[in-house]
Amino acid sequence: MHDAYSQHPQSLAGSMITLARTPVRSSLHSISFRRAAHSHSRSMRPLTPADLNPAVLNVQYAVRGELAIKAEELNEKLRSEEHRDTLPFKKVISSNIGNPQQKGLDQPPITFTRQVAALMEYPPLAEIVKDKWNPDVIQRAKQLQEEIGSVGAYSHSKGIPLIRKHVAQFITERDGYPSDPEDIFLTAGASAGVSLLLNVLITAHKTGILIPIPQYPLYTATLAQFSGVPLPYHLSEQDGWSTSLAEIKAALAKAETDGKVTPRALVVINPGNPTGALLDRQTMEELVWLCEEHSLVLLADEVYQENLHRRDEHPFHSFKQVVRQLGSQIPLISFHSISKGVFGECGRRGGYFECCNISTDVRALLYKMVSVGLCPPLSGQVGVDCLVRPPKPDEPSYALWKQETDDIHAALAHRTQVMSERLNKLPGVSCVNSPGALYLYPKLELPQNAIDAAHKLGKEADTLYALELLGETGICVVPGSGFGQKDGEHHYRLTCLCPGVEEYVGMLEKFHLNFLKRYGGA
Ligand SMILES: Cc1ncc(COP(=O)(O)O)c(C=O)c1O
Repeated sequence: MHDAYSQHPQSLAGSMITLARTPVRSSLHSISFRRAAHSHSRSMRPLTPADLNPAVLNVQYAVRGELAIKAEELNEKLRSEEHRDTLPFKKVISSNIGNPQQKGLDQPPITFTRQVAALMEYPPLAEIVKDKWNPDVIQRAKQLQEEIGSVGAYSHSKGIPLIRKHVAQFITERDGYPSDPEDIFLTAGASAGVSLLLNVLITAHKTGILIPIPQYPLYTATLAQFSGVPLPYHLSEQDGWSTSLAEIKAALAKAETDGKVTPRALVVINPGNPTGALLDRQTMEELVWLCEEHSLVLLADEVYQENLHRRDEHPFHSFKQVVRQLGSQIPLISFHSISKGVFGECGRRGGYFECCNISTDVRALLYKMVSVGLCPPLSGQVGVDCLVRPPKPDEPSYALWKQETDDIHAALAHRTQVMSERLNKLPGVSCVNSPGALYLYPKLELPQNAIDAAHKLGKEADTLYALELLGETGICVVPGSGFGQKDGEHHYRLTCLCPGVEEYVGMLEKFHLNFLKRYGGA
C-alpha cells in the first residue's frame, strides 16, 4: 500500500519528535533570521478593496444588506444575557428574505423529500426504517442510489442524467409540449443558472439586459458583477404590478437613442418578486413577439410557479408553453428552484434551467462553463428529483405529501390575504394583494419630516422606516430602494412566511401609527 497514510507514519512521528525537542527560542530566532533575509516583506502592501475587481465593489444585494446586518447584531444581543433585556422585543423576525425554513419561521420540510434525502445520505438507514417508512420512499431512494451511487461523488456537470430525464418529463406534463433532457441543466439553486446565463450573454461593457423594476436584486447585483448594463422597465403598480409592453418598448428606444447599448435579453420574473404579480397569457404572448422583433433572449425566472394564492383567477403559464404554442423561435431559458414553492429547501441549493431554441453550439458552451464548476450539489439534485416527481395519488406517501403541501399553500394564501387587507387600512399605506410568490410590497406615503430626517442621515425614507421597524419590533424587512422604485416613491418588501399572522400584522400596525405620530403625519 502506498497511500499518504501508510507511507510516512514513521517519518511523520520522527519530525514531530524533532519539533517537540527544538527549543522554542531557537525556532523563533530562525524565523526572524529568515524574515530579515526577505526584508522586502516589510514594505509589502496589504490587500485592500482597491486591489479588487472594481465590478465587485459595485455589487449591491439589499436582501442581505444593511437591515439584515443590523438584524444579525440584534440577534447577537438577544443571545447575550447582559443585553437581552435592553431590547423591546424577544426575537428578530426575518421577513427580509424568502427563506421559509429559517429558524423562527420554521416552515416544516416535506416529509417525503427529507426521507429520500436521509436515505441518500446514509443508505444503511433503509434497513432500520423499512417497517416504519413507506415503501415508495425506500424504493425511490434505491432507484436513485442505483443511478447515482454515493452522493459524496461528483456527478455529470449538467446534473445526474436520470434526474434531468425526470425534469424533462415534469416539464412535458406541465406544458403539453416535449422537453429534452439534453436541454436541462441542474444548478446550485436558480441563482447559479441566472449568474451563468448573464455571464455568457454579456459580451462587452455595453450589453443591455432589460430588467423589471422593482426586481429581485440578484439581477442588478449580477449585472454589476459582469459589467452588463441594466435596462430598467417599470411595472405598473396601479394595475396590480402588471408588465407593460409600452414600458419595455420605451426602455428599448432609450437604449437605441443612447446608441451605445445593445439590448441582448429580457428578464421576466413570473410570479414576480417582490410584487407577487402573475402575467396573463396575452401579455406573455406579446412579450414573446417583442423578443422576436428585437432578437432578445428571454430569461424567464419561474421559481415561484407553485406559489399561487388564487389559482383560478391567476393561473401560472410557463413561457416554454407559450413559446411552443406560438411556434416562436426565440431563445428562451427558464429557471426553477427547490428553494420556493412549498419546498423551501433553500439551503440544499437545487434548481434547474431549461434551454429552448438554443443551438447545440451554444448549449455546448454552457456545458463547458458548468464543467468548470464540476457539478451542482448532489443534495440539491436529489431535491430537484423530489420536486419534479412527488408521490402519485396511488402511492403510499401521497396522502401525507398532499396534506403537508396543502397546509403550506393555505397558510401562505391566508397570511397574504390578512396582511394585505390590514395594511391597506392603515393611513398612508396601499398594498397590492399579491396573487403569487411569497411577498407583499406595500407603498408608503411618508410624512415630509420623516423624509427630511432620513436625508439628514444620508438614507432613503423607506430605509429609515425599515430601520425603526426593526429597532422597535424586531421585524426585519427590506426597503424599496433595494428593489428599485420610481423617484420619490417609498415601499418595503415583507415575506408572508411568519407564523402567527394576527400578532405579526398587529405589530406592523402599531409601529406604523407610532411612526406617523413621531414624524407628524397623523
Ligand atoms: C425571483 C427569484 N429568482 C431566483 C431566486 C434564487 O433562488 P435560489 O435559492 O434557487 O438560488 C430567488 C430567491 O429568492 C428569487 O426570488
